[in-house]
Amino acid sequence: MDKISSIRGMPDVFESDTNYLAELNETLSRIFLSHNLNEINTPILEQTELFIRSTGVTSDIVNKEIYSFNDRNEQSLSLRPEGTAGVVRSIIQKKLDTAEHKLWYQGPMFRYERPQKGRFRQFNQAGVELLGFEEGSSDLEIISIVCDIFIELELENSVLRINHLGDKDTKEKFSSELLKYLKTYKGELSDNDKEKLNKNPLRLLDSKDGDLKDFLDKGPKIIDFLSSEQLNLLDKIQSVFGKYVEIELDSSLVRGLDYYTGLVFEAVSSNLGAQDSFLGGGRYDELSKDLGGKEMPAIGFAIGLERLILLAGKDLAVPRNTDIYIINQGLIAESLALDLSRKLRIYDLIVELDLSGASFSKQFKKANKLKSKSIIVIGEDEAVKCEFIIRLFD
Ligand code: HAM
Repeated sequence: MDKISSIRGMPDVFESDTNYLAELNETLSRIFLSHNLNEINTPILEQTELFIRSTGVTSDIVNKEIYSFNDRNEQSLSLRPEGTAGVVRSIIQKKLDTAEHKLWYQGPMFRYERPQKGRFRQFNQAGVELLGFEEGSSDLEIISIVCDIFIELELENSVLRINHLGDKDTKEKFSSELLKYLKTYKGELSDNDKEKLNKNPLRLLDSKDGDLKDFLDKGPKIIDFLSSEQLNLLDKIQSVFGKYVEIELDSSLVRGLDYYTGLVFEAVSSNLGAQDSFLGGGRYDELSKDLGGKEMPAIGFAIGLERLILLAGKDLAVPRNTDIYIINQGLIAESLALDLSRKLRIYDLIVELDLSGASFSKQFKKANKLKSKSIIVIGEDEAVKCEFIIRLFD
C-alpha cells in the first residue's frame, strides 16, 4: 500500500521543536500579559470575502496565496492567511467596535507560497492588535512590546525597520506622484510589475530588481509627503527605543498587505537568509470601516514563530530530560510505583513509570536512554519501604 505523506510546506512539528514552540508561546504570552493584553481566538476558517476586503485585491495573499474552497452550501471559505482580519471582524460582529481593545492571539496561518527555509504553507504566528487607538501613544506602546520581545528573546543581528505611509489622503497623493514618475519607466517593467503599477504602485517600492531600485532612488519619497506630527513620531520611536534595538528608517518599506496607513515596521535578521523578516506590522485605521464597522483606528503586528525557532538556532532546542524514572518489578511494587508516580507529578516533576514488566537491566537501559536525572527502583523487597516513602508525601 502507498504511504500517505503530509502536504508540501505543512511540516509536522515534533520533538525539540514542539518543546521550543511551547516555550516561545509561554514567553510571548508572559510579555503580552505584562502589557495588559487579553487573548482572543478566532476561527481558522473565515468567509473568503473577509480577506479580499482586508488584505486587498492587489496583495499577493489574495492573488495567489489564499487557500479557498466552496463548502457544501457553495459558500466560499478560506483558511486564514493572517490574524488581523479575523480579529477586526470579530470585534465588529460583537458590536464592540466603539471601545478600545488590547488583544493578542497565536495560532496557525496558511499561505500557498513556494516552500523554502523559513517559508511554509502552514506556519504559526503570535500577534498583537491595539484596536480603537489613534496614532500617537499606541504606536509607542506597540513598539515597546516589540522591544520587549527583542530583549527577552535576546535576538541578535536583528534590526527593526520603520516607515510611515501617511494617512489615507497622503498615501493616495504619494501613490499618484509615484505612478506619474514610474510611467516613464513602464516599458522596462516586467508584466508582473506592470500589473502592480496599475493596481497599487506602492507595491513596487520594495522591488528586488536592481535597475528599478536605482530608478526609484531618484523618484519621489514618501517622507516628503508627511506632516510634521508624522515625522515627529518616526523621530520619537528612534530616540526612545533606539537604545534597546537597532532601528532603521526605510522609505522603501511598504508591506505586502493593502490595509496599512501610518506607521509600518518589519523586523529582519541577517541570521535568517532569504526569508529574513520575522515580525511585521503597522497601523490600519481604515480596516474597520472597510469591513462594515465603525471608525476604529488600530495598530498591530505579528511574529512568525518558525522563523523565531530558526533564529534561536539548535542550541535552544534542548531535548527535555526526565526528572525521575521509576523501575519496578512484581505486582505490589507496580501498584506502589503507580501511586508514587502520581504523587511526584503533583510537584511538577517529569516522571516516567515503567510498566513493561521487563527485567531490571532492560528498565535501567530505558531510564538511561531518557537521560533520567534520578532513578527509583522498587523491587518486591523494597515495596514495604516504598509505602513508607509514599506516606511522607501525603
Ligand atoms: P506578515 O508580514 O504578512 O504580517 O506576517 C508576519 C510574520 O509572519 C512574518 O514576518 C513572518 O515571520 C511570518 N510569516 C509570514 N508568511 C510566512 C510563511 N509563509 N512561512 C513562515 N512564516 C511566515 C501579517 O500577517 C499581519 N497580519 C501583521 C499585522 C498584525 N499587522 C497588523 N497587525
